[in-house]
Amino acid sequence: MTNRKGQITDKTRIAAVIGGGVIGGGWAARFLLNGWKVHIFDSDSDAAPKIIDVLQNARASLPLLADTALPEEGQLVFCDTLEQAASGAHWIQESVPERLLIKKKVFAALQNAADRNAIIASSTSGFTPTQLREGASHPDQIIVAHPYNPVYLLPVVELVGGADNPYIKRAATLLAALGMKPVILRAEIDAHIGDRLLEAVWREALWLVRDGIATTQDIDQIITHGFGLRWAQMGLFETYRMAGGEAGMRHFLAQFGPALAWPWTKLMDVPDLDDALIDKIVSQSDKQSGHLSIQQLEQIRDRNLVGFLQVLKYHHWAAGQALKDWDDQRPYKAGNFAAQAPFCQHTARVLPSWIDYNGHMTEFRYLQVMSEASDILLATVGLDEAYVETGHSVYTVETHIRHLAEATLGEQIIISTQIISADEKRVHLWHACVTDKGKEVATGEQMWLHVDMKAGCTTPFKPPLKENIAALAVAHAHLPLPVGAGRSIGGR
Ligand SMILES: NC(=O)c1ccc[n+]([C@@H]2O[C@H](COP(=O)([O-])OP(=O)(O)OC[C@H]3O[C@@H](n4cnc5c(N)ncnc54)[C@H](O)[C@@H]3O)[C@@H](O)[C@H]2O)c1
Repeated sequence: MTNRKGQITDKTRIAAVIGGGVIGGGWAARFLLNGWKVHIFDSDSDAAPKIIDVLQNARASLPLLADTALPEEGQLVFCDTLEQAASGAHWIQESVPERLLIKKKVFAALQNAADRNAIIASSTSGFTPTQLREGASHPDQIIVAHPYNPVYLLPVVELVGGADNPYIKRAATLLAALGMKPVILRAEIDAHIGDRLLEAVWREALWLVRDGIATTQDIDQIITHGFGLRWAQMGLFETYRMAGGEAGMRHFLAQFGPALAWPWTKLMDVPDLDDALIDKIVSQSDKQSGHLSIQQLEQIRDRNLVGFLQVLKYHHWAAGQALKDWDDQRPYKAGNFAAQAPFCQHTARVLPSWIDYNGHMTEFRYLQVMSEASDILLATVGLDEAYVETGHSVYTVETHIRHLAEATLGEQIIISTQIISADEKRVHLWHACVTDKGKEVATGEQMWLHVDMKAGCTTPFKPPLKENIAALAVAHAHLPLPVGAGRSIGGR
């Protein structure tokens, strides 16, 4: 159900995915892992295993990018007809093959079956909304939402169909809630933006192979060891701005602009994809990557993407900012913190980059997850930016971590915190790290001091920390002293 503004009012959000290939499967995974129910229809009755494979890849990767708990995975329903899939759907994503006639037939059927408020989006890589809408009963309802493969990991979606179109505006909000980065195109254009850029590079690469200047592997190495790494975080213009040095973009354009007129590139010429060129590309590609199956390549791609995205997220940069915003839409719920004994608001998933040469979670990550739990507790009792701006904060002056068992890749660690004692300026606390399977992997005992940062000395807590920490200490007073508290390192 949607209200008159087109906002979804039902508790269960339903996405219909029409066409369950590489892209449809990726969309289904993105919606499911964000808690949506997904109706999927594919005219090929054998499509289900392909979709399940994509979903398995997504389950192994997307959750590694979330720092707050994801909603429970939605229900996947395989539908026998397009109409059944469209019924009750709030978002309908067409991902059938890139043939205009097939797509238009699908849209005609969808507009008959779908709610008038449902967003009907096409994954098309090349067609414009004008082409897709021709003859449609409600043209504005059909928009382009062009993703990139793998849809469950790459955030960007090109939205085309008129910046003022209310369906586009709603689509942008809904996509951001899925951890995606909608970019609304200012005008429609064949092949949108990303594929245009890619095609220019692709055309040039085909010439280089055809003319024997480079092999497929040479070209890929130049991308993966060079500008591909830069592009993942700064794109084209920001990178070139730096290339101009302190004098910036104007200087860059003055220095390298004239070279654009030199006959370096093949520009619009397209090499003839004759049998000889096809054989050459295929055999070079087989030599380069033939020892790996497509599934293995997909898993390597996803593992690496997760690593890049984690770094970007840590720095709140580029695609990492979209992930940060995604987390912020699922804030931890502090609830009545004083009633929580112990205080338990933080869980962390053991990520690939946390695993050391022993094959389990490396030691400094334990301090990280405990520090994150501390930050959540402190934020809950009122240590926010305004508090710190008054010149007061909380410093940790001592930590004792015990490592009790190994946490392994993908395990969920729940960190609960007990206030052992607190006075007017000190908190003695205890973190227990337990996996979702109930295995206690580490404990951390800490002493915090409240400080006057300008004076460089301790000082009593100020409101609201003063009252809230006292309330928490009272709530925890009945808890037994944790086993191991007060331990120090020493020979037996
Ligand atoms: N592959 C990519 O990297 C990529 C990236 C972005 C966008 N796209 C676009 O996404 C769309 C789908 O591409 P793909 O690569 O997933 O193709 P695909 O061939 O992998 O999948 C298409 C699926 O649609 C099904 N299908 C065919 N006709 C149908 C119909 N009438 N009703 C329901 N299902 C039908 C097929 O059985 C198949 O499973 C295309 O428009 C493409 O341009 C592809």
